[in-house]
Amino acid sequence: NHVKTLIGKKVLVTAGPTIEPLDPVRYFSNYSSGKMGFALAEAAALAGAEVTLISGPVSLPTPPQVRRIDIVQAEEMKEEVLQALPQMDVIIKSAAVADYRPQKIYHQKMKKVQEELTVILEKTPDIATEVGKRKLAHQLLVGFAAETQDVETYALGKLKKKGMDLIVANNVAEPGAGFGIDTNIVTVYDQEGVVKAFPKMSKKELAVELITLIGDRLHGK
Ligand code: PMT
Repeated sequence: NHVKTLIGKKVLVTAGPTIEPLDPVRYFSNYSSGKMGFALAEAAALAGAEVTLISGPVSLPTPPQVRRIDIVQAEEMKEEVLQALPQMDVIIKSAAVADYRPQKIYHQKMKKVQEELTVILEKTPDIATEVGKRKLAHQLLVGFAAETQDVETYALGKLKKKGMDLIVANNVAEPGAGFGIDTNIVTVYDQEGVVKAFPKMSKKELAVELITLIGDRLHGK
């Protein structure tokens, strides 16, 4: 029973982890399954939006009526997001972009010779911050924050620093919330503070709620 609140709107969703290679057989990444982002893409399409889903490596089917672009590294996700950005009305950043990547990628498999190994990591580009800078007046930027403590403080900090309109914060240390599982527990914030706190629910149900909330914002409600 979906209300077609996003007819004529173009929505970009990022989902999944990024993978940052170290050598041909090893990488740095995180536990994102893509479930939250894919559920959002599906809900947005059901609400009538034209949806582009930019995803890291996940094993999920593409939701119906969704254009999907697969990427591996943060750098590629950045390029695809910035290319799609000018056409978009809503940008939802549910991907868990790796914050760091190996400074040097080895082209041959690293050999097990030393007792200790130091890998130097460098920051990846912050895609949300770049989107926040380029964002046009009519575009709504919705970020996510994955925290394990002081959720509100960190979430509001990210919202302001990255120029987001809304941020969806999940305490990923809480049972029933965060990476990999089928449920989530989130609170949505804007510049003013709490917009809505959701109880534990399936990521699919939550996605429908979040898309409704985004639709309301878009229509100035
Ligand atoms: O994929 P699932 O298994 O369903 O799990 C869902 C989830 C826990 C991954 C999701 O609900 C979530 O919280 N996604 C954001 C995870 C994250 O990376 O949060 P963050 O607090 O590190 O980043 C804050 C925001 O900046 C995010 O919108 C992120 O996409 C963005 N970011 C971060 C780093 C970076 N280099 N570029 C970014 O754009």
